[in-house]
Amino acid sequence: MKKKVRNKGNKKTRVKSVIKAGPATTRRRAGIIGLGSYLPKKILTNRHLEKMVDTSDEWITTRTGIKQRRIALKSQATSDMAVRASKSALRDAGIKAADLDLIIVATITPDMQFPSTACFVQKALNAENAVCFDIGAACAGFVYAIVIAEQFIITGKYKKVLVIGSEKLSSVTDWTDRNTCVLFGDGAGACVMAPVRSGGILSSYIGSNGKNSDLLFLPGGGSRNPASHKTVDSKLHCIKMQGNELFKMAVRIMVYAADKSLKKLGLTCKDIDMFIPHQANIRILFAVAKKMGLSRKNLYLNIAKYGNMSSASTAIALCEAVKSKHIKKGDLVVLDAFGAGLTWGAVVIKW
Ligand code: UT7
Repeated sequence: MKKKVRNKGNKKTRVKSVIKAGPATTRRRAGIIGLGSYLPKKILTNRHLEKMVDTSDEWITTRTGIKQRRIALKSQATSDMAVRASKSALRDAGIKAADLDLIIVATITPDMQFPSTACFVQKALNAENAVCFDIGAACAGFVYAIVIAEQFIITGKYKKVLVIGSEKLSSVTDWTDRNTCVLFGDGAGACVMAPVRSGGILSSYIGSNGKNSDLLFLPGGGSRNPASHKTVDSKLHCIKMQGNELFKMAVRIMVYAADKSLKKLGLTCKDIDMFIPHQANIRILFAVAKKMGLSRKNLYLNIAKYGNMSSASTAIALCEAVKSKHIKKGDLVVLDAFGAGLTWGAVVIKW
């Protein structure tokens, strides 16, 4: 029988009672046992962008919080970055690629339309026993992929799952459009998930709303607008975005997602030790933190260094927060992301 969780007592006792109660559906729990990230060496600063479009370091910094972003080599595909991050995550987890049962790549910039980028990762890693697929949930992709991996683990179907967020957004950026080109960067983050005896994923919540799909999209190259001279000339293979509309939704929905995932456990934002949001805009993140009553020390930020890397943003932020000891054993961590689709989600993890 499920134990009752009461939202009483101080923060420590509240979180402890949740751990004892176990996840809602089963006693088996999935956790993250290894993390890795990869960032291309090339740095594109706001000063560089000033020479490319009509913008300024001052505008980009104050409106977005971004100072620089990483750009992959022409020869580097999304799977190449994913492989670098994955090797590091496998080392961190202390397992071999052959131990993997499943590889999920969250990306909106796959190497090709098909096969999946996950299959390219499998090939490069020699992960011959893994089932492989990609998921397309844009900036919420890493959170979605964690939730998917968790289902396979808690049902006992798979034991070792590699979850990756990898993006080469520079390949779909219109470098003449100042509204978007200042925002994005390239990179990859990966985690190995497995059944855990203590800690792990306590709860999650994901959601979608296709009604607002026109706020952020890439129209060309799919079955709606197959590649042609016309689609190339009209720049349909680049990201189109209505930033200010998204901004308002992002704040509201990220707060809602965090709240919803915590409520399932009888916890509140006050119980969070480290909040790892998708890094879209510093003003969004400060507004979210304010609404949630989070202080700066509970909010992990790396947007200044990397910009918005879609599905890779949350993955890299989590990896960096753990490696730099901003997250310690026993901490209550919340991942929270929002992106095109619209898609969104939050995951509560006891570290
Ligand atoms: O990743 C998941 C989802 N993505 C998001 O959640 C992104 C959310 N949106 C945003 O981060 C912000 O909306 C942006 C950073 C994209 C834009 O900031 P904003 O404060 O919403 O600016 P705006 O789009 O309302 O534009 C304000 C002005 C405009 O000029 P006018 O029309 O007022 O004369 C733009 O043309 O700023 C201008 N502008 C720029 N100026 C200098 C837009 N981009 C630039 C630029 N440099 N790079």
